[in-house]
Amino acid sequence: ERIPVICIDGPTASGKGTVAAAVAQRLGYRFLDSGAMYRITALAALRAGLAIDATHESRIADMAKTLPVHFEGGRVLLGQDDVTEAIRTEEAGMNASRVSALPAVREALVDLQHSFRRLPGLVADGRDMGTVIFPGAPLKVYLTASAACRAERRYKQLISKGFSANIADLRADLEARDARDSSRSVAPLKPAQDALVLDNSDLTIDEAVEKVLAWWQERQ
Ligand code: C5P
Repeated sequence: ERIPVICIDGPTASGKGTVAAAVAQRLGYRFLDSGAMYRITALAALRAGLAIDATHESRIADMAKTLPVHFEGGRVLLGQDDVTEAIRTEEAGMNASRVSALPAVREALVDLQHSFRRLPGLVADGRDMGTVIFPGAPLKVYLTASAACRAERRYKQLISKGFSANIADLRADLEARDARDSSRSVAPLKPAQDALVLDNSDLTIDEAVEKVLAWWQERQ
């Protein structure tokens, strides 16, 4: 419990991942991308021929406990397969959202998430880092932005990688994913009671990073 943890939760495409990784780098802390675990679990389930629904909940949870995942030099490997790009598509995000609504799957990933809490400290990004996984964390940030702004950022990200995209479709998708994540019965997306809310619609990444670092400084 004495190892510091900064939780950064929030809706889809709010900038959490980028801000959390930058804060971790500035502090020399470890970084936990909990969303990647759900993305990988969903991909592994589909590749094993399992539909993502309650019928297969316990089998998917068993898979999640023993996922052959490796993070190597910025790549994500599932067994022998490099799934770095495959887990980043919009479809993979939606499948992750579906798999993450299964309580047994969430339970199966708890120990793995806790294992990232090591010295000198951790920055954890997700939906329930502050509410469920690290409830005693000394700093919890709920990072959000308007839906229009999040759709536009996602659009620019996809275009810059050479993908085609439609901004209205992206916005509809992210609103659907947030609705599912917020309404599920286990660990729904919501700010922790003691979270500091940061709307970064009108901030640059650097400004959001500085704000989080300033909050962290105040706590030392
Ligand atoms: O953050 P990212 O978009 O990678 O997360 C993919 C999905 O995984 C989210 O839409 C959410 O359903 C799920 N998730 C979760 N709890 C977390 C992180 C992600 O339920 N801590």
